[in-house]
Amino acid sequence: MSEENQFEISRRNLFKVAGLGAGIALIPEMLQTSPTGAAVTNALWIPPKLSGSNFNLKLLKSTKQIAQGSVTKTYGYNGAGFWGPTLIMKKGDNVTLNVTNGLSEETTTHWHGMHLPAKMDGGPMQVISVGDTWSPHFKVMNNAATFWYHPHMHKTTQKQLALGAGGFIFVQDSKEAALALPRTYGVDDIPLALGSRTLSAVNQISTTAIYGDTMLANGVANAQATLPAQYVRLRILNMESERVLNLGMSDNRTFHVISTDGGLVRKPIPLKRLLMSPGERYEILVNLSNDKIGSVVALCAYNRGLAFGYGGSEPATTGDFGSLLNNANFDVLKIKITKPIAKGISSLPTKLTTNIFPVASQVTNTRTIAITDNGPGTPFTFDGKSYSMDYINQHVKLGATEAWTVTNDRVFGHSFHIHDVQFKITSRSTGAVPAHENGWKDTFSILPNEKVTFIAKFDDYASSKWPFMYHCHMANHEDGGLMGQFLVEQ
Ligand code: C2O
Ligand code: CU
Repeated sequence: MSEENQFEISRRNLFKVAGLGAGIALIPEMLQTSPTGAAVTNALWIPPKLSGSNFNLKLLKSTKQIAQGSVTKTYGYNGAGFWGPTLIMKKGDNVTLNVTNGLSEETTTHWHGMHLPAKMDGGPMQVISVGDTWSPHFKVMNNAATFWYHPHMHKTTQKQLALGAGGFIFVQDSKEAALALPRTYGVDDIPLALGSRTLSAVNQISTTAIYGDTMLANGVANAQATLPAQYVRLRILNMESERVLNLGMSDNRTFHVISTDGGLVRKPIPLKRLLMSPGERYEILVNLSNDKIGSVVALCAYNRGLAFGYGGSEPATTGDFGSLLNNANFDVLKIKITKPIAKGISSLPTKLTTNIFPVASQVTNTRTIAITDNGPGTPFTFDGKSYSMDYINQHVKLGATEAWTVTNDRVFGHSFHIHDVQFKITSRSTGAVPAHENGWKDTFSILPNEKVTFIAKFDDYASSKWPFMYHCHMANHEDGGLMGQFLVEQ
C-alpha cells in the first residue's frame, strides 16, 4: 500500500480515537509513528477461554472504552466489553451450553460451522426470551478448526453483532494436536475477530451502518499485538456486516493458510493476499522469526481498487454506502515483535492432514439457488422469496450428497453460508477455485455474474420440524430477507 494512503487512514483513525473533527490540529504528543504509519496503538484484547463440556454464557449489556471520550455501549457475553469468551471444545465430547439472555430484547445464539441437530443450532426459531436460559447439547463432530457463535435473531442480527455479541469456538482434535503448530492461546495462537464499526460523535456504535469507519480487532481500535519472533498462528474471522477484507502483510511477505472454515488443509498454502468475506474464517501462519525484536509489522486490508461488487469497494466516504475505510488500504493489526517463547514453532509443517471431500460422482441430487431481488433498490431474496419462518425453501433427504449451485446475476456481491454441513467448492464460473478454497468451507464470497457450485453430504441429523438456514452472511442482507431454510428429512 502506498505510505501516503496508510498515513491518511491512520490519521483518520486518530481523529476518531481522539474524538477530533477534521480540521482540528493534532496534538503532536499523541503521534507515535511506527514503520506502518500508525499513530496511536492499543493492546489487542484476547478474550478469556472457557473449556470443558459445560459452558455457561450470558449475553449482557456492557460497555467498552473504544475511543477517547465517552464510553461505548456494547453487548457482550459474560461481561466482555465487546466479543465474548473463546469456547474450547474437543472433538467427540458431548457438550452442553447454557445461554442466558441478559438483554432487554430477544436473541438467539448460533454455533456457526458446527455440525449438530437443527434443534440445537440456535437459528432464528430458537428464540431466547429476555431473562430465559436456553440449553442446547450436542456431540462435537467437527474437525479441529475455528468456529464462532453469534446471535441469529431475525431482523436484529446486524444490530446485536454490531454491538459486539459473538465469540470464537476452537475445536481441537488428536490429529491437529499431533502437529507442530503454534497453539499457546493468546501468545502464538491468536484469535482475531475483524470488523469495522461506525461511532457517533459521542462514541456510540451505529447498529445500521453498512460499513464502519473505525477498524476493530477483537473490539480494539488501532490494535497492536506483541508476538514472539517465531511462526505465529492467526485465527481470523471477518465479522464485518458487509465489507470484505483483502488481507496481506504491510511488507508483502508471504504467509501460509493452514485451515479454512471447517478444518486443516492438506499442506500450508502460500499467499500474499487473502480475501475474506463476512462469516469466513482462515487460520494463517506468519513467520516472524526473521523480524528484529521491537520492530513492527502490520496485517493490513488491501481494499483499494477492489472491483465494484465486493463489499466496501464503493468509493464514497459518507452516505448509506460510505465509509472512511471504503476502497482504501488500512492496517487491521499491528504486530510488535518480542523474544521467542520456549515452545515456539520455528519451521513450517510440510503436511497437515488428509481430507476426503465428497465428489461429483457421489452426488444424488442437485439444486440451484438464485440470488434475486424485486427490482433496483429492493431487498435481496433467494429465488424471489424473502425469508419466512413459516416456509421451507428446500427439502433434503438424510444421507444425500448434493451439489448446490448459487447464482448471482444482480448488481452486488454476497457471502453465502449454509448451516449443518461443511462443503467443498467445486467450481466458480469466474475462473479456477483458488488454492486456499481447497478445504472444508461453510461460507464463501460470490460476485455479481458469478455461479459457485459446492458439494456437501447431509448426514447424521434429520428433523421434520426444525430447519437449518442458508443465507447471505452480510448481516444487513440476512436481516433484509436474503435467507432460506431447509429441512433434512428421513
Ligand atoms: Cu454465522 Cu446463519 O450464521
Ligand atoms: Cu448479501
